[in-house]
Amino acid sequence: MKVYLDNAATTPLDKEVLDAMLPFLTDHFGNPSSTHSFGRKTKTAIETSRRIISSTLNCRPQEICFTSGGTEADNLAIRGSVNDLGCNRIITSKLEHNAVINTAEEFESAGKVELNYVNLTPKGHVDLQHLDELLAMGGKCLVSLMHGNNEIANLLPLKEVGELCKKYDAIFHSDTVQTMGHYEFDLQDLHIHFITGAAHKFHGPKGIGFLYINRQVQVKALITGGGQERKQRGGTENLYGIVGIGKAMQLAYDHLEEHQSHIGGLKQYMIQQLNEHLPGCDINGDSGSKNSLYTVLNITLPENPNSAMMLFLLDLEGVACSGGSACSSGAAKGSHVLTAIDAIHPNRTSLRFSFGKFTTKEEIDFAVAKLQNLCEVKEVKPERATQAY
Ligand SMILES: Cc1ncc(COP(=O)(O)O)c(C=O)c1O
Repeated sequence: MKVYLDNAATTPLDKEVLDAMLPFLTDHFGNPSSTHSFGRKTKTAIETSRRIISSTLNCRPQEICFTSGGTEADNLAIRGSVNDLGCNRIITSKLEHNAVINTAEEFESAGKVELNYVNLTPKGHVDLQHLDELLAMGGKCLVSLMHGNNEIANLLPLKEVGELCKKYDAIFHSDTVQTMGHYEFDLQDLHIHFITGAAHKFHGPKGIGFLYINRQVQVKALITGGGQERKQRGGTENLYGIVGIGKAMQLAYDHLEEHQSHIGGLKQYMIQQLNEHLPGCDINGDSGSKNSLYTVLNITLPENPNSAMMLFLLDLEGVACSGGSACSSGAAKGSHVLTAIDAIHPNRTSLRFSFGKFTTKEEIDFAVAKLQNLCEVKEVKPERATQAY
């Protein structure tokens, strides 16, 4: 048996999404910029996909700019805020994805912005009082705070943060890569300038995503060339990817409640099973509360003889997850997110399990049994492990 519990890294492509894409890899191949019927056919497909996304998020089609994924969308928002919207301060957190942190740090190193990290509460939530204080310090601020954390699952109150940004006339970008396709968004009800999506996190193809750009702001293209994407991204469009993301969005939101209850139920079931079968296992972040992404569960295992090799051994046993805070020497190393919330323990391993609509209860049972076994048995020294290192 092989169990895939790494849906926050990527999700399997839905067969219905593939079926929607296939004709655009074969029959409908026209360049969307061509004015003949071949081009008009594919241009229409792109605009249909854009409309599916905009109507789902309650914004205008022209506010959706297709990108190569979440990383590019984050870059477009942050670089545009500094280069085109005059932001000279960036307020972010130590929990952000590297697409945000590295981009913000690059601007800081170049002396273009002052960079501030907002304080975190003991459970790893953004301290809104401190955010208010940072905003009150002045300057033209970009606030970049993710909606759902990809490692520890904490959720940001988008509405409240948006209101704070409005109070100080700040630009607000939220990396919504982990929540897009999993939560409802009403962009008319939020004060926000940029949000992001990546199809492969909700059963769409890899290499396609989008940035919502509020029509009140205008940023210049990162990739210059032709006038595609209303001059916001040059280059012939990733046609089949765009068709795929539209279909994946449609499916995700048509079945949202069903998925929320199925996946959220599995997460709670795994917590319960871990409590029962693996005493001494800690949960990182705020997974017991409602302010937690229902697809992700991050744990730190009790100290055990297989800590250093745990991820590798689980893989050998057929369980795919991600994580790892203890390196082979036993020294604390790894996740910047766990470091930021002080959840790195020497000689203990942290793992992220993330669930999707295809995950089953039997798979959770299988993974918990393997975890229990590896934590209890003597040190396992698989021959292949020595070869691998
Ligand atoms: C929160 C978050 N932001 C951004 C990204 C990057 O998205 P992509 O892989 O589509 O570039 C990821 C993917 O791991 C993510 O989890």
